[in-house]
Amino acid sequence: METPSQDIIFIVDDSRTNLEYILTFLTDAGFSVLAFQSGEELIEKINNMMPNIILLDVVMSGIDGFETCKILKKTEATKDIPVIFMTGLSDTLDKIKGLSLGAVDYITKPIQPEEVLARINVHLRLQKEIIQRTQAQASLEKLTAELEQRVEERTAELTDSLTKLSNAKFQLIQSEKMSSLGELVAGVAHEINNPLNFITGNMALLEEYFTEITAHLQLYQKKFPDPGYEILDHGEDIELNYMIKDLPSMIASMKLGLDRIREISLSLRNFSRADQSKKITINIHECIDSTLMILQHRIKASPERPEIKIIKDYGKLPLVNCYPGPMNQVFMNLFANAIDAFDEQINRADYLNKIHHLDQKITITTCEIPDYGISIKIADNGPGIAEELRSKIFDPFITSKSRGQGTGLGLSIARSIIVEKHGGLLECYSKVNEGTEFTIELPK
Ligand SMILES: Nc1ncnc2c1ncn2[C@@H]1O[C@H](COP(=O)(O)OP(=O)(O)O)[C@@H](O)[C@H]1O
Ligand SMILES: [Mg+2]
Repeated sequence: METPSQDIIFIVDDSRTNLEYILTFLTDAGFSVLAFQSGEELIEKINNMMPNIILLDVVMSGIDGFETCKILKKTEATKDIPVIFMTGLSDTLDKIKGLSLGAVDYITKPIQPEEVLARINVHLRLQKEIIQRTQAQASLEKLTAELEQRVEERTAELTDSLTKLSNAKFQLIQSEKMSSLGELVAGVAHEINNPLNFITGNMALLEEYFTEITAHLQLYQKKFPDPGYEILDHGEDIELNYMIKDLPSMIASMKLGLDRIREISLSLRNFSRADQSKKITINIHECIDSTLMILQHRIKASPERPEIKIIKDYGKLPLVNCYPGPMNQVFMNLFANAIDAFDEQINRADYLNKIHHLDQKITITTCEIPDYGISIKIADNGPGIAEELRSKIFDPFITSKSRGQGTGLGLSIARSIIVEKHGGLLECYSKVNEGTEFTIELPK
C-alpha cells in the first residue's frame, strides 16, 4: 500500500468518537490528518492549510455537511478539493443530493477502515491525475496561444515587408523610367542646342549679307537702268522685286521659329533637371509650364478633336523647396490622366455628343497659402470619376484603362511624392459628367 505522507486529509464530524477513530487509522496509514468538529470550524480554518481530500459528515449540529459542501464548492480556493461524505443514512436520496452538490464519493457508517482507505486512495490518485492534466492543458493552451501570437506577428511582418517591397519596386521602376526619360530629354535638348546656336549665329550674318547684296543690286540698277532684255526678263521670271520685299519678313519669321525652338529646349532642360536627389527652391509655375510644353503634342488639335484649352489662373507664388524631377512627374501624371479622360470621352461619344464635348479644358489655379506654402488646383471638365473608383484612386494598380494602356500607378506614385517626399497634401474631387479636380498643397 502507498504511504503518501505528504497527503493531508481533513475530517469533519461532530462526534468526537468517530473523529478519533478515523484519525487514528488514517494516521496509522501514513496520512497527515486534521480533525474538525463542525462545518463552521472547517470553513474558518481551511484557508490556513489546504487538504488533498475532505471527509465530511452529513448530519451535524450547526451547518450540516451539505451546506458546508456548498460553501466549499462556491469558494474559488476550495472548489476543487474532493469531498467524500460520511453518512449513516442508507437513504439513496441523500447520497444523490451529496453527489449533486459536487462530492466525489460517500462512505456509509459504520466506518470500515479498509473501505475508507481504498476510496481515499482512489480519489487521491484521480485528483492528482486531474491536476496533472489541468496543468498540461493549461501549458498546452499557453503554448498554442504563444504560437498563434507568433504566427500572427510573423504574418503581419511578412505582409508589411511584402507591401513595402512591392511599393518600392514600382517606385523604382517608375523613377527608373522617369530618369531614363529625363536623360533622353536632356540629351535631346543638349543636341538641339549646337545647331540652334549655329543657325542663330548665321541668321544674323544672313540678314546682314542680304541687306548688303540688296543694296549692291540696287546700286547696279541705278547705274545701269537699261541692262538689256536678258537680265530684265530673268528679273521678272524670278519675281526679283517681290523676293527683295519678302525676304526680310521671311527672316523675321525664321527668327521667331528659332526663339520658339529655344523655348522648347529650355523647357526640356527644365523638365529633365538631372539632379533629382536634392531639394532646391523652384518656381512651380516653371515646372507646370515645362510639363505642359512636353505634353503639347497631346494638347493640340488632332483629327478627332480641337485643341484642349489650357487656362492658367496663376497667383503670385513664393518659391518652394522641392525635388523638381519628381514634382514634374506629378504634374505629368495629372495632366496625362486628364488628357486620357478627354480622349476616352471623345472615343465613346457619338457625333452629336462629340460636338458637345468640344469645349475640353484644363484649368490650373495656383495661390499662396499664408504661413504654409502653396496650393495648386488642376481641374478638367472631363467625364469625372464615379465615387466607387474615386475613393481608392490613390491605391496602386487601380485603373479603368485597358491592359497596356494604364498601370494604375500614376496617382499612387503622385501621392507618395507629394505626401511622403514633400510632406504635402494631394486630394481628388470629382463629379460624374462634370469633371475632376486634383488639389495639391505644398509646404514652403
Ligand atoms: N482627370 C481624370 N478624369 C477621369 N478619370 C481619372 C482622372 N484622373 C485619373 N482618373 C482615373 O483614375 C485611374 C487611375 O489613374 P492612374 O493612377 O494615373 O493610373 P492609370 O492612368 O495608369 O490608369 C485612371 O485609370 C482613371 O480611371
Ligand atoms: Mg495615369
